[in-house]
Parts: sequence; structure tokens; C-alpha cells
Amino acid sequence: MELLTIALPKGRILEESLDLLREAGIDCDNINEDSRKLIFVSDKSNIKFILAKPFDIPTYVEYGVADLGIVGKDILLEEPRDVYELLDLKLGYCRIVVAGPKGKKEYPAHLRVATKFPRITEKYFIEKGRQVEVIKLNGSVELAPIIGLADKIVDIVSTGTTLKENNLVELEQIAEITARLIGNKVSFRLKASRIDELIKGINNIIERGEKDA
Ligand code: PRP
Repeated sequence: MELLTIALPKGRILEESLDLLREAGIDCDNINEDSRKLIFVSDKSNIKFILAKPFDIPTYVEYGVADLGIVGKDILLEEPRDVYELLDLKLGYCRIVVAGPKGKKEYPAHLRVATKFPRITEKYFIEKGRQVEVIKLNGSVELAPIIGLADKIVDIVSTGTTLKENNLVELEQIAEITARLIGNKVSFRLKASRIDELIKGINNIIERGEKDA
């Protein structure tokens, strides 16, 4: 059995991803996000797991240092990479939305939008024929309209708590997001049977879950 390297995103979708892998019979029990370790090896499954920042997962996979990766569709939309999108894992559901301060629903003529997703934001507003100045931030985007940096934000909404706690309301939905399994193009050929087996195992679990739902 040849070694597979899988890049997993630290943060919100890690737990759900590990649950799915486990259910598919892939040993990932020694992965511990709370430790400072970034590489975990399962001798049982002969898999090396890399824990990385979500935005870096497609980069690892494109360059082939990871054969496979799990990453949100938001990141694939924001920074397209030369990788195969192999499977919709149907986990980590969230939405990308336009939001703004409560009670201030109008859009000014010169619209400023703060976001971690400048490409998605620009594309969305251009397609709508609306002019926009996009301000790129790296997180805590909800701050921008409160302190007067931007009129609106484009951000991920999951439970809606962050918007609510910052007196912001959703105005428009841009996209629905789930996690995807991505693959390196060369690995997909060279390690075809192993990757195929893994995809089938994961897919069975996803389909079973859909049937039970
Ligand atoms: C995301 C997103 C929102 C929040 C939404 O941020 O950018 O801030 O989660 O989740 P909720 O609807 O469940 O409240 P993340 O936690 O990834 O951190 P960041 O703001 O530092 O990017």
C-alpha cells in the first residue's frame, strides 16, 4: 500500500472532516489539533496527514506535497488552483453573504465592501453591474462597517451569531459552501487505485448519511 499524504484544514471543518474519514475506515485517531504538531502519521492506514491553514491547502495539493486535501469551496472560488475537485463532502455547510449594519439597508453610490474574499466579491458585484471598491481584510471583517472602514461586508455566515452580535444583517446571498475533497493531478494518475478506493469509501458514507437524513 503506497503512502498517501492528505492535507487537512485547521479550524472549523477539521472535526467534521475527521469524523467522516474515521467512518470511512481511515485511521486518524492520533491527530490532535490542540498540539503544536503539524504532521501526523497513521501507520495503520499508511497516510501522512498535514494540518495547514485552510487557504494553503490547495497550494499544497497543486504542488503535489499533498496528494489530497480537504478545503471549503469558498477557498476554491477565491483562489482557483490547478487541482481536481473530486468530491463534495457535504460538510461544513455555510454561506457567503453580503451584510451590513442593521437599519442601513441602502447601498451608497460609491460602495465600499470589506472582505476576506476580494475575488468572489468583485465578481459578484461586476455580474450585477454594480460598482464596488473592495477592501481586503484577513479576518474579523465584521469590524469594518462598525468602525467606518466599509459600508458593507462579504463574509461567511454559519450560525449567524457573529453578524447578530455585531448588529449586522444579511442583505444578499452570494453562494452556498461545503467542504470538498481535492486531488493533485499527477497523484490522481500515479496513485489511482488507492485514491479511488478512498473516494469510494468516503462516498459510501456520504450517501448513507443522505439516505438516513
Ligand atoms: C468566520 C466568518 C465569520 C464567522 C461566522 O470567521 O468570517 O466571522 O466565522 O460564523 P457564525 O455565523 O457561526 O457566527 P472565522 O471564525 O473563520 O474567523 P475570522 O473572522 O478570523 O476569519
